Amino acid sequence: MTAALPVSELARRMQRRAHLLIPGGAHTYAKGDDQFPENAPPFIVRGQGCHAWDVDGREYIEYGMGLRAVTLGHAFAPVVEAAARQLQHGINFTRPAPVELECAETLLSLIPGAEMVKFCKDGSHAVDGALRLARAATGREQVAICADHPFFSTGDWFIGTVDMPAGIPAAVPRLVHRFAYQDRAALEALFAAHPGQIACVLMEAARLDEPEPGYLQWVKDTCHAHGALLVFDEMITGFRWHLGGAQGAYGVTPDLATFGKALANGFSVSALAGRREFMRLGGFDHDRERVFLLSTTHGAQTHELAAAIATMRFYREHPVVDTLYARGRRLREGVAQAAAAAGLGAQVGVVSRDCNLLFTTRDAQGQPSQPLRTLFMQELVRHGILAPSFVVSWSHSEADIDRTVEAVAQALAVYAQALDGGVGRFLEGRPVQPVFRRFA
Ligand SMILES: Cc1ncc(COP(=O)(O)O)c(C=O)c1O
Repeated sequence: MTAALPVSELARRMQRRAHLLIPGGAHTYAKGDDQFPENAPPFIVRGQGCHAWDVDGREYIEYGMGLRAVTLGHAFAPVVEAAARQLQHGINFTRPAPVELECAETLLSLIPGAEMVKFCKDGSHAVDGALRLARAATGREQVAICADHPFFSTGDWFIGTVDMPAGIPAAVPRLVHRFAYQDRAALEALFAAHPGQIACVLMEAARLDEPEPGYLQWVKDTCHAHGALLVFDEMITGFRWHLGGAQGAYGVTPDLATFGKALANGFSVSALAGRREFMRLGGFDHDRERVFLLSTTHGAQTHELAAAIATMRFYREHPVVDTLYARGRRLREGVAQAAAAAGLGAQVGVVSRDCNLLFTTRDAQGQPSQPLRTLFMQELVRHGILAPSFVVSWSHSEADIDRTVEAVAQALAVYAQALDGGVGRFLEGRPVQPVFRRFA
């Protein structure tokens, strides 16, 4: 069925019911109705590779699948089969399963700075664990986080710092300080303002901009000079920037690093990995005070770890990361050409690495515009592209990319008219909104 047809009454009824039963209508804010144009499919029932089908049977090429978790593709046979094999044997016992050891060995063989690892389910949980460990290891309470990196955790310590802090005691985020990426003076000022009190610096090694030469090594040296740990959040960069994560790409190994998303092709596995001297505090082969480090009922389910092993094995045996870059490069060039042809080179473009493309939607004055973002997504949906970003997977073929570029060209024709005639005339509903806002 063509994506240009309107969303059916059945899907709309389900959507209304979801809002009645689920706060926000979705269990993940980033998937919520306020993040997508009105014509976006309210529900996805099935995926294969980079294609997805909604409840009305419409087919889309999807981007950023599963919030960037599905790097290989939906229903990806080698991963599904590995998980299914394990399901036959039980998923949760009263003692550890051998797959826990095998998964640890596999991850540690790939990540340069990782000597020990502990698995859990969500990225947030892994990042929370990194902070707890850094605080315990240093005996300090304050932490420094990069202000240009929009999301680290669902934990109170982080949500208390964004524009949605209801329910979080004001004292909690007071322990968190922000510094700007690449701003050496800002980080130095934090260490100077809180001497001997900062447990760790938490950051993504890169997000939109590449680190200036020597910057990451400087951050590491500065942390160590002040007795603090360096933590890289590799939730996005892990297995995407490089098989060894951002630390593999840039050659700077942090003390601790957190992984998730791409680690298991959408299965719920995350990891805290790092130097033995710190990680071992979560164990019991030392005399120091023990640290409660990541432990939950569902923490090491065997089928999810089997999925992670199969995913990492596939990365090792196939040029996955190179392919993400190649497909992204093709898309970047195609979008740039389409934007130039439409006279919108200053409005629509892509940023970040080719393996992790985000698009920009600016108004005539060059300011970022949520209504124009909504319009762009709306017109892409109309042409069968579901794209909150242009983050590609291994399953995006060159033909998928080329089809996307054609859709972009068609979307830009409407975009250009909207710049002249007003976006409101072309938008089918309300514009998208940031997740973090105090009021609806
Ligand atoms: C950089 C980064 N860190 C941490 C997280 C939290 O991961 P999760 O949603 O699995 O808890 C995310 C999630 O989007 C993320 O992008």
